[in-house]
Amino acid sequence: MDIHDWYRFVYAYSDRIITGLVDEFEITQDDLLIDPFNGTGTTTLSAKKLGIDSIGTDTSPASVLSGRAKTNWEVDLDEFRQRRSELLSIIQPIFKEISSQGNTTLDSFGDSTNGQGIDLSKYDFSEPKKTPKGWLSEKPLKKMKVLRYHIEELPNDNVTDLFKLAMIAISPEDVGNVRFGPEATRDPKQEGDKDVFTIFKTKLSEIEEDLESVQAAVESGEVEPGETEIIRADARQLADTLREESELLNSDKHGGEVDYLITSPPYPAEHDYTRNQRLELIWLRAADDNKDLQKIKKANIRSHTKNIYVADDEGEQVNIRENDRVDAIVSEMEQIIVDEDISHGFGKYYPRVIEEYFAGMQHHFEQVYDLLASGGKAAYVVGDSGSYWQVEVETAEILGELAEERVGFEEPEIRLWRNMAATTADYDDVEENILILTKPESA
Ligand SMILES: C[S@@+](CC[C@H](N)C(=O)[O-])C[C@H]1O[C@@H](n2cnc3c(N)ncnc32)[C@H](O)[C@@H]1O
Repeated sequence: MDIHDWYRFVYAYSDRIITGLVDEFEITQDDLLIDPFNGTGTTTLSAKKLGIDSIGTDTSPASVLSGRAKTNWEVDLDEFRQRRSELLSIIQPIFKEISSQGNTTLDSFGDSTNGQGIDLSKYDFSEPKKTPKGWLSEKPLKKMKVLRYHIEELPNDNVTDLFKLAMIAISPEDVGNVRFGPEATRDPKQEGDKDVFTIFKTKLSEIEEDLESVQAAVESGEVEPGETEIIRADARQLADTLREESELLNSDKHGGEVDYLITSPPYPAEHDYTRNQRLELIWLRAADDNKDLQKIKKANIRSHTKNIYVADDEGEQVNIRENDRVDAIVSEMEQIIVDEDISHGFGKYYPRVIEEYFAGMQHHFEQVYDLLASGGKAAYVVGDSGSYWQVEVETAEILGELAEERVGFEEPEIRLWRNMAATTADYDDVEENILILTKPESA
Protein backbone atom coordinates (compact mmCIF):
# COMPACT_ATOMS: atom_id res chain seq x y z
CA MET A 1 0.00 0.00 0.00
CA ASP A 2 0.90 3.61 -0.20
CA ILE A 3 -0.13 6.36 2.18
CA HIS A 4 -1.98 8.02 -0.71
CA ASP A 5 -4.38 5.05 -0.70
CA TRP A 6 -5.41 5.41 2.94
CA TYR A 7 -8.25 7.55 1.70
CA ARG A 8 -8.94 8.87 -1.77
CA PHE A 9 -11.92 10.34 -3.47
CA VAL A 10 -12.95 10.23 -7.08
CA TYR A 11 -11.59 13.71 -7.80
CA ALA A 12 -8.09 12.99 -6.54
CA TYR A 13 -5.29 13.37 -9.06
CA SER A 14 -2.19 11.26 -9.44
CA ASP A 15 0.99 12.02 -7.53
CA ARG A 16 2.79 11.76 -10.89
CA ILE A 17 1.47 15.24 -11.68
CA ILE A 18 3.30 16.57 -8.66
CA THR A 19 6.56 14.71 -9.21
CA GLY A 20 6.57 15.77 -12.88
CA LEU A 21 6.02 19.45 -12.08
CA VAL A 22 8.48 19.39 -9.18
CA ASP A 23 11.15 18.19 -11.64
CA GLU A 24 10.17 20.63 -14.34
CA PHE A 25 10.00 23.69 -12.10
CA GLU A 26 13.11 22.51 -10.24
CA ILE A 27 11.39 22.88 -6.89
CA THR A 28 13.93 22.34 -4.10
CA GLN A 29 13.85 21.58 -0.39
CA ASP A 30 14.31 25.31 0.28
CA ASP A 31 10.97 26.11 -1.34
CA LEU A 32 7.44 26.32 -0.01
CA LEU A 33 4.71 24.68 -2.11
CA ILE A 34 0.98 25.15 -1.55
CA ASP A 35 -2.20 23.43 -2.66
CA PRO A 36 -5.23 25.62 -1.89
CA PHE A 37 -7.69 22.91 -3.07
CA ASN A 38 -5.87 20.08 -1.37
CA GLY A 39 -8.72 17.51 -1.35
CA THR A 40 -7.60 14.19 0.08
CA GLY A 41 -4.04 15.50 0.24
CA THR A 42 -2.14 14.22 -2.81
CA THR A 43 0.03 17.33 -3.22
CA THR A 44 1.01 17.73 0.40
CA LEU A 45 1.87 14.04 0.84
CA SER A 46 3.92 13.98 -2.37
CA ALA A 47 5.77 17.12 -1.28
CA LYS A 48 6.49 15.66 2.15
CA LYS A 49 7.96 12.51 0.60
CA LEU A 50 10.22 14.68 -1.56
CA GLY A 51 11.41 16.71 1.43
CA ILE A 52 9.56 19.83 0.31
CA ASP A 53 7.66 21.98 2.81
CA SER A 54 4.02 22.42 1.91
CA ILE A 55 0.71 23.86 3.02
CA GLY A 56 -2.65 22.42 1.98
CA THR A 57 -6.02 24.04 2.48
CA ASP A 58 -9.54 22.82 1.83
CA THR A 59 -13.03 23.62 3.04
CA SER A 60 -14.05 20.05 3.78
CA PRO A 61 -13.39 18.72 7.28
CA ALA A 62 -13.00 15.23 5.79
CA SER A 63 -10.28 16.46 3.44
CA VAL A 64 -8.54 18.43 6.18
CA LEU A 65 -8.45 15.30 8.35
CA SER A 66 -7.11 13.27 5.43
CA GLY A 67 -4.40 15.80 4.60
CA ARG A 68 -3.31 15.92 8.24
CA ALA A 69 -3.36 12.21 8.98
CA LYS A 70 -1.41 11.34 5.82
CA THR A 71 1.36 13.79 6.60
CA ASN A 72 1.67 13.29 10.34
CA TRP A 73 4.32 10.60 10.46
CA GLU A 74 5.47 11.16 14.00
CA VAL A 75 2.75 9.01 15.47
CA ASP A 76 3.50 6.87 18.51
CA LEU A 77 2.92 3.43 16.99
CA ASP A 78 2.97 1.60 20.33
CA GLU A 79 0.14 3.81 21.51
CA PHE A 80 -1.64 3.22 18.18
CA ARG A 81 -1.39 -0.57 18.60
CA GLN A 82 -2.55 -0.52 22.19
CA ARG A 83 -5.55 1.68 21.46
CA ARG A 84 -6.39 -0.38 18.39
CA SER A 85 -6.46 -3.67 20.27
CA GLU A 86 -8.65 -2.17 22.99
CA LEU A 87 -11.02 -0.66 20.45
CA LEU A 88 -11.24 -3.84 18.39
CA SER A 89 -11.92 -5.96 21.45
CA ILE A 90 -14.76 -3.65 22.46
CA ILE A 91 -16.46 -3.54 19.09
CA GLN A 92 -16.05 -7.15 17.97
CA PRO A 93 -18.71 -8.77 20.20
CA ILE A 94 -21.07 -5.86 19.62
CA PHE A 95 -20.76 -6.18 15.84
CA LYS A 96 -21.39 -9.93 16.13
CA GLU A 97 -24.48 -9.22 18.12
CA ILE A 98 -25.72 -6.72 15.55
CA SER A 99 -25.06 -9.18 12.70
CA SER A 100 -27.00 -11.90 14.49
CA GLN A 101 -30.02 -9.68 15.18
CA GLY A 102 -33.08 -11.00 13.48
CA ASN A 103 -31.38 -14.35 12.94
CA THR A 104 -32.46 -15.89 16.24
CA THR A 105 -35.72 -16.15 18.04
CA LEU A 106 -34.23 -14.30 21.02
CA ASP A 107 -34.53 -11.12 19.04
CA SER A 108 -38.29 -11.42 18.89
CA PHE A 109 -38.50 -10.56 22.60
CA GLY A 110 -37.49 -7.05 21.61
CA ASP A 111 -35.05 -6.93 24.52
CA SER A 112 -32.03 -4.63 24.30
CA THR A 113 -29.75 -7.34 25.68
CA ASN A 114 -29.10 -10.66 24.07
CA GLY A 115 -28.11 -14.05 25.37
CA GLN A 116 -24.50 -12.91 25.82
CA GLY A 117 -25.59 -9.95 27.89
CA ILE A 118 -24.52 -7.24 25.45
CA ASP A 119 -26.38 -4.05 26.16
CA LEU A 120 -26.99 -2.00 23.05
CA SER A 121 -29.30 0.51 24.69
CA LYS A 122 -26.67 3.22 25.07
CA TYR A 123 -26.28 3.57 21.31
CA ASP A 124 -28.46 5.82 19.22
CA PHE A 125 -29.10 3.81 16.07
CA SER A 126 -31.19 6.37 14.24
CA GLU A 127 -30.10 7.12 10.70
CA PRO A 128 -28.27 10.45 10.40
CA LYS A 129 -30.66 12.98 8.81
CA LYS A 130 -28.54 13.90 5.83
CA THR A 131 -27.85 10.32 4.69
CA PRO A 132 -28.97 10.02 1.07
CA LYS A 133 -31.68 7.40 0.70
CA GLY A 134 -30.41 3.83 0.57
CA TRP A 135 -26.73 4.69 1.02
CA LEU A 136 -26.50 2.71 4.26
CA SER A 137 -28.09 -0.62 5.11
CA GLU A 138 -29.42 -1.14 8.61
CA LYS A 139 -26.74 -3.35 10.16
CA PRO A 140 -23.70 -1.53 8.73
CA LEU A 141 -25.30 1.72 9.93
CA LYS A 142 -25.57 0.35 13.47
CA LYS A 143 -21.98 -0.85 13.42
CA MET A 144 -20.69 2.52 12.23
CA LYS A 145 -22.63 4.22 15.01
CA VAL A 146 -20.99 1.93 17.56
CA LEU A 147 -17.57 2.45 16.00
CA ARG A 148 -17.91 6.22 16.10
CA TYR A 149 -19.19 6.15 19.67
CA HIS A 150 -16.05 4.38 20.84
CA ILE A 151 -13.66 6.40 18.67
CA GLU A 152 -15.14 9.55 20.15
CA GLU A 153 -14.27 8.27 23.63
CA LEU A 154 -10.57 8.25 22.73
CA PRO A 155 -8.22 11.19 23.38
CA ASN A 156 -8.39 13.79 20.63
CA ASP A 157 -4.88 13.44 19.18
CA ASN A 158 -2.94 12.28 16.12
CA VAL A 159 -3.38 8.59 16.97
CA THR A 160 -7.14 8.94 17.11
CA ASP A 161 -7.01 10.89 13.83
CA LEU A 162 -5.85 7.67 12.18
CA PHE A 163 -8.89 5.79 13.54
CA LYS A 164 -11.14 8.57 12.31
CA LEU A 165 -9.52 8.49 8.90
CA ALA A 166 -9.93 4.70 8.69
CA MET A 167 -13.59 5.11 9.72
CA ILE A 168 -14.37 7.65 6.99
CA ALA A 169 -12.24 5.92 4.34
CA ILE A 170 -14.27 2.71 4.53
CA SER A 171 -17.62 4.44 4.81
CA PRO A 172 -18.85 5.02 1.24
CA GLU A 173 -17.85 2.01 -0.83
CA ASP A 174 -16.85 -0.72 1.62
CA VAL A 175 -19.51 -0.19 4.27
CA GLY A 176 -22.07 1.92 2.42
CA ASN A 177 -23.94 1.17 -0.78
CA VAL A 178 -22.29 3.89 -2.81
CA ARG A 179 -20.79 3.78 -6.29
CA PHE A 180 -18.89 6.58 -7.98
CA GLY A 181 -19.23 7.08 -11.66
CA PRO A 182 -17.98 9.85 -11.18
CA GLU A 183 -20.97 11.17 -9.21
CA ALA A 184 -21.94 9.26 -6.10
CA THR A 185 -25.02 7.07 -6.52
CA ARG A 186 -26.78 4.40 -4.55
CA ASP A 187 -25.74 0.89 -5.47
CA PRO A 188 -28.55 -1.48 -4.50
CA LYS A 189 -26.35 -4.49 -5.32
CA GLN A 190 -24.28 -3.73 -2.22
CA GLU A 191 -27.19 -3.64 0.20
CA GLY A 192 -27.16 -5.89 3.27
CA ASP A 193 -24.89 -6.62 6.21
CA LYS A 194 -21.15 -5.98 5.92
CA ASP A 195 -18.19 -7.31 7.85
CA VAL A 196 -17.32 -3.85 9.16
CA PHE A 197 -15.01 -5.33 11.78
CA THR A 198 -12.65 -6.94 9.25
CA ILE A 199 -12.89 -4.00 6.85
CA PHE A 200 -11.93 -1.55 9.60
CA LYS A 201 -9.24 -3.81 11.04
CA THR A 202 -7.67 -4.32 7.62
CA LYS A 203 -7.59 -0.58 6.99
CA LEU A 204 -5.84 -0.04 10.30
CA SER A 205 -3.26 -2.75 9.51
CA GLU A 206 -2.50 -1.08 6.20
CA ILE A 207 -2.03 2.25 7.93
CA GLU A 208 0.21 0.63 10.55
CA GLU A 209 2.38 -1.06 7.92
CA ASP A 210 2.84 2.14 5.93
CA LEU A 211 3.70 4.11 9.03
CA GLU A 212 6.20 1.46 10.12
CA SER A 213 7.98 1.63 6.80
CA VAL A 214 7.94 5.41 6.50
CA GLN A 215 9.20 5.82 10.06
CA ALA A 216 12.02 3.35 9.31
CA ALA A 217 12.90 5.27 6.12
CA VAL A 218 13.06 8.53 8.05
CA GLU A 219 15.11 6.95 10.81
CA SER A 220 17.65 5.54 8.36
CA GLY A 221 17.94 8.88 6.57
CA GLU A 222 16.60 7.41 3.33
CA VAL A 223 13.71 9.91 3.46
CA GLU A 224 14.07 13.45 4.71
CA PRO A 225 10.47 14.58 5.06
CA GLY A 226 9.31 18.11 4.37
CA GLU A 227 7.24 20.01 6.92
CA THR A 228 3.50 20.06 6.28
CA GLU A 229 0.61 22.16 7.46
CA ILE A 230 -3.04 21.53 6.64
CA ILE A 231 -5.51 24.33 7.31
CA ARG A 232 -9.24 24.63 6.78
CA ALA A 233 -9.64 27.69 4.58
CA ASP A 234 -11.56 29.17 1.66
CA ALA A 235 -9.12 29.59 -1.23
CA ARG A 236 -10.73 32.95 -2.00
CA GLN A 237 -9.30 34.20 1.30
CA LEU A 238 -6.08 32.26 1.09
CA ALA A 239 -3.50 34.97 1.75
CA ASP A 240 -5.48 36.51 4.59
CA THR A 241 -5.98 33.15 6.32
CA LEU A 242 -2.44 31.87 5.85
CA ARG A 243 -0.82 35.10 6.99
CA GLU A 244 -2.86 34.83 10.15
CA GLU A 245 -2.74 31.09 10.82
CA SER A 246 0.24 29.47 9.12
CA GLU A 247 3.41 28.93 11.10
CA LEU A 248 5.19 27.52 8.08
CA LEU A 249 4.50 30.53 5.87
CA ASN A 250 5.59 32.92 8.60
CA SER A 251 8.68 30.91 9.57
CA ASP A 252 12.20 32.34 9.13
CA LYS A 253 12.84 29.76 6.43
CA HIS A 254 9.97 30.93 4.22
CA GLY A 255 9.65 34.56 5.26
CA GLY A 256 5.98 35.01 4.36
CA GLU A 257 6.36 33.94 0.73
CA VAL A 258 5.18 30.95 -1.27
CA ASP A 259 7.38 29.70 -4.13
CA TYR A 260 5.08 27.30 -5.98
CA LEU A 261 1.48 26.21 -6.18
CA ILE A 262 0.17 22.95 -7.64
CA THR A 263 -3.52 22.16 -7.44
CA SER A 264 -6.69 20.92 -9.10
CA PRO A 265 -9.50 23.38 -8.37
CA PRO A 266 -13.19 22.77 -8.95
CA TYR A 267 -14.53 23.68 -12.39
CA PRO A 268 -18.12 24.24 -13.53
CA ALA A 269 -19.27 20.66 -13.95
CA GLU A 270 -21.95 19.88 -11.35
CA HIS A 271 -19.61 18.05 -8.96
CA ASP A 272 -21.08 18.50 -5.49
CA TYR A 273 -18.21 17.72 -3.15
CA THR A 274 -20.46 17.75 -0.09
CA ARG A 275 -22.57 15.01 -1.64
CA ASN A 276 -19.69 12.87 -2.82
CA GLN A 277 -18.15 13.02 0.64
CA ARG A 278 -21.48 12.89 2.43
CA LEU A 279 -20.93 9.75 4.49
CA GLU A 280 -17.46 10.88 5.51
CA LEU A 281 -18.83 14.24 6.63
CA ILE A 282 -21.67 12.54 8.48
CA TRP A 283 -19.31 10.30 10.47
CA LEU A 284 -17.24 13.34 11.39
CA ARG A 285 -20.42 15.12 12.54
CA ALA A 286 -19.80 17.79 9.92
CA ALA A 287 -23.11 17.17 8.14
CA ASP A 288 -25.70 16.80 10.88
CA ASP A 289 -28.11 19.22 9.25
CA ASN A 290 -28.58 21.68 6.39
CA LYS A 291 -26.80 24.40 8.33
CA ASP A 292 -23.61 22.32 8.53
CA LEU A 293 -23.74 21.52 4.85
CA GLN A 294 -24.41 25.12 3.87
CA LYS A 295 -21.43 26.27 5.85
CA ILE A 296 -19.17 24.08 3.73
CA LYS A 297 -20.97 24.84 0.47
CA LYS A 298 -20.87 28.60 1.00
CA ALA A 299 -17.11 28.46 1.56
CA ASN A 300 -16.72 26.59 -1.72
CA ILE A 301 -16.01 28.00 -5.14
CA ARG A 302 -19.35 28.09 -6.94
CA SER A 303 -19.06 25.27 -9.43
CA HIS A 304 -22.49 23.65 -9.50
CA THR A 305 -26.13 24.63 -9.31
CA LYS A 306 -26.61 23.34 -5.77
CA ASN A 307 -24.21 25.83 -4.28
CA ILE A 308 -25.58 29.02 -5.79
CA TYR A 309 -27.20 31.40 -3.29
CA VAL A 310 -29.44 34.45 -3.67
CA ALA A 311 -26.87 36.68 -2.02
CA ASP A 312 -24.01 35.59 -4.28
CA ASP A 313 -22.64 38.63 -6.07
CA GLU A 314 -18.96 38.01 -6.74
CA GLY A 315 -19.69 38.14 -10.49
CA GLU A 316 -21.17 41.59 -10.17
CA GLN A 317 -18.47 42.79 -7.79
CA VAL A 318 -15.74 42.14 -10.32
CA ASN A 319 -17.86 42.81 -13.46
CA ILE A 320 -17.03 39.36 -14.68
CA ARG A 321 -19.06 39.77 -17.89
CA GLU A 322 -16.63 42.39 -19.09
CA ASN A 323 -14.52 39.40 -20.02
CA ASP A 324 -15.72 38.58 -23.56
CA ARG A 325 -15.46 34.82 -23.24
CA VAL A 326 -17.44 34.72 -19.99
CA ASP A 327 -19.99 37.09 -21.49
CA ALA A 328 -20.38 34.93 -24.62
CA ILE A 329 -21.02 31.78 -22.55
CA VAL A 330 -23.46 33.48 -20.20
CA SER A 331 -25.31 35.12 -23.12
CA GLU A 332 -25.61 31.80 -24.95
CA MET A 333 -27.05 30.17 -21.84
CA GLU A 334 -29.46 33.04 -21.21
CA GLN A 335 -30.66 32.72 -24.80
CA ILE A 336 -31.32 29.00 -24.31
CA ILE A 337 -33.34 29.81 -21.18
CA VAL A 338 -35.49 32.24 -23.20
CA ASP A 339 -35.80 30.02 -26.29
CA GLU A 340 -36.67 26.90 -24.32
CA ASP A 341 -38.79 28.81 -21.81
CA ILE A 342 -36.88 27.34 -18.87
CA SER A 343 -38.43 28.62 -15.67
CA HIS A 344 -37.84 25.82 -13.22
CA GLY A 345 -35.27 23.15 -12.47
CA PHE A 346 -31.58 23.77 -12.12
CA GLY A 347 -31.06 24.94 -15.71
CA LYS A 348 -32.01 28.49 -14.85
CA TYR A 349 -28.95 28.71 -12.58
CA TYR A 350 -26.40 27.68 -15.21
CA PRO A 351 -25.44 31.24 -16.23
CA ARG A 352 -25.00 32.19 -12.58
CA VAL A 353 -22.70 29.24 -11.93
CA ILE A 354 -20.47 30.46 -14.77
CA GLU A 355 -20.37 34.05 -13.50
CA GLU A 356 -19.83 33.15 -9.86
CA TYR A 357 -17.28 30.46 -10.69
CA PHE A 358 -14.98 32.70 -12.70
CA ALA A 359 -15.38 35.62 -10.29
CA GLY A 360 -14.52 33.36 -7.35
CA MET A 361 -11.43 32.09 -9.14
CA GLN A 362 -10.41 35.68 -9.90
CA HIS A 363 -10.55 36.44 -6.18
CA HIS A 364 -8.51 33.33 -5.54
CA PHE A 365 -5.85 34.40 -8.11
CA GLU A 366 -5.58 37.80 -6.40
CA GLN A 367 -4.80 36.06 -3.13
CA VAL A 368 -2.25 33.77 -4.76
CA TYR A 369 -0.55 36.71 -6.45
CA ASP A 370 -0.22 38.34 -3.07
CA LEU A 371 1.42 35.24 -1.55
CA LEU A 372 3.74 34.20 -4.37
CA ALA A 373 7.36 35.29 -4.51
CA SER A 374 8.46 37.14 -7.66
CA GLY A 375 9.02 34.58 -10.41
CA GLY A 376 6.86 32.06 -8.48
CA LYS A 377 4.75 29.61 -10.49
CA ALA A 378 1.25 28.25 -10.03
CA ALA A 379 -0.06 25.15 -11.87
CA TYR A 380 -3.80 24.44 -12.10
CA VAL A 381 -5.06 21.11 -13.42
CA VAL A 382 -8.50 21.97 -14.68
CA GLY A 383 -11.10 20.48 -17.00
CA ASP A 384 -13.08 22.09 -19.78
CA SER A 385 -16.78 21.70 -19.38
CA GLY A 386 -19.73 20.78 -21.53
CA SER A 387 -22.02 19.95 -18.63
CA TYR A 388 -24.46 22.79 -19.27
CA TRP A 389 -26.48 22.13 -22.44
CA GLN A 390 -23.16 21.27 -24.05
CA VAL A 391 -22.19 24.94 -24.10
CA GLU A 392 -18.44 24.78 -24.38
CA VAL A 393 -16.55 26.27 -21.45
CA GLU A 394 -12.81 26.43 -22.04
CA THR A 395 -11.97 26.72 -18.39
CA ALA A 396 -8.17 26.95 -18.56
CA GLU A 397 -8.26 29.54 -21.39
CA ILE A 398 -10.64 31.78 -19.47
CA LEU A 399 -8.81 31.40 -16.17
CA GLY A 400 -5.55 32.25 -17.93
CA GLU A 401 -7.06 35.42 -19.39
CA LEU A 402 -8.44 36.54 -16.05
CA ALA A 403 -5.15 35.82 -14.29
CA GLU A 404 -3.18 37.80 -16.87
CA GLU A 405 -5.49 40.71 -17.63
CA ARG A 406 -7.00 41.28 -14.22
CA VAL A 407 -4.44 40.05 -11.72
CA GLY A 408 -1.02 40.56 -13.28
CA PHE A 409 0.37 37.07 -13.94
CA GLU A 410 2.48 36.89 -17.08
CA GLU A 411 1.98 34.84 -20.24
CA PRO A 412 -0.18 31.99 -19.00
CA GLU A 413 0.72 28.69 -20.56
CA ILE A 414 -1.81 25.94 -21.22
CA ARG A 415 -0.83 22.34 -21.68
CA LEU A 416 -3.08 19.45 -22.52
CA TRP A 417 -2.98 16.96 -19.67
CA ARG A 418 -5.45 14.38 -20.99
CA ASN A 419 -8.79 13.89 -22.63
CA MET A 420 -11.52 12.79 -20.28
CA ALA A 421 -14.52 10.69 -21.08
CA ALA A 422 -17.38 13.18 -21.11
CA THR A 423 -20.42 12.63 -18.95
CA THR A 424 -22.83 13.46 -21.77
CA ALA A 425 -23.01 11.43 -24.95
CA ASP A 426 -23.08 14.40 -27.34
CA TYR A 427 -20.02 16.09 -26.04
CA ASP A 428 -17.00 13.87 -26.16
CA ASP A 429 -13.36 14.72 -25.93
CA VAL A 430 -13.44 17.03 -22.94
CA GLU A 431 -9.96 18.33 -22.28
CA GLU A 432 -8.18 18.46 -18.98
CA ASN A 433 -5.39 21.01 -19.06
CA ILE A 434 -2.61 22.31 -16.89
CA LEU A 435 -2.68 26.09 -16.70
CA ILE A 436 0.65 27.55 -15.62
CA LEU A 437 0.79 31.08 -14.24
CA THR A 438 3.97 32.99 -13.44
CA LYS A 439 4.30 36.02 -11.22
CA PRO A 440 6.64 38.46 -13.01
CA GLU A 441 10.21 38.66 -11.72
CA SER A 442 9.81 42.41 -11.47
CA ALA A 443 6.68 42.23 -9.28
C1 LIG B 1 -10.73 18.54 -7.56
S1 LIG B 1 -10.74 18.50 -5.82
C2 LIG B 1 -9.03 18.41 -5.39
C3 LIG B 1 -8.48 17.00 -5.38
C4 LIG B 1 -7.03 16.86 -4.93
N1 LIG B 1 -6.10 17.29 -5.95
C5 LIG B 1 -6.73 15.41 -4.55
O1 LIG B 1 -5.83 14.80 -5.14
O2 LIG B 1 -7.44 14.87 -3.68
C6 LIG B 1 -11.22 20.11 -5.38
C7 LIG B 1 -11.26 20.39 -3.89
O3 LIG B 1 -11.52 21.78 -3.72
C8 LIG B 1 -12.23 21.95 -2.50
N2 LIG B 1 -12.79 23.31 -2.54
C9 LIG B 1 -13.85 23.79 -3.22
N3 LIG B 1 -13.99 25.10 -3.03
C10 LIG B 1 -12.98 25.50 -2.21
C11 LIG B 1 -12.57 26.74 -1.66
N4 LIG B 1 -13.24 27.87 -1.91
N5 LIG B 1 -11.48 26.74 -0.89
C12 LIG B 1 -10.79 25.62 -0.60
N6 LIG B 1 -11.12 24.41 -1.10
C13 LIG B 1 -12.22 24.35 -1.89
C14 LIG B 1 -13.20 20.79 -2.48
O4 LIG B 1 -13.60 20.50 -1.16
C15 LIG B 1 -12.34 19.68 -3.10
O5 LIG B 1 -11.72 18.93 -2.10
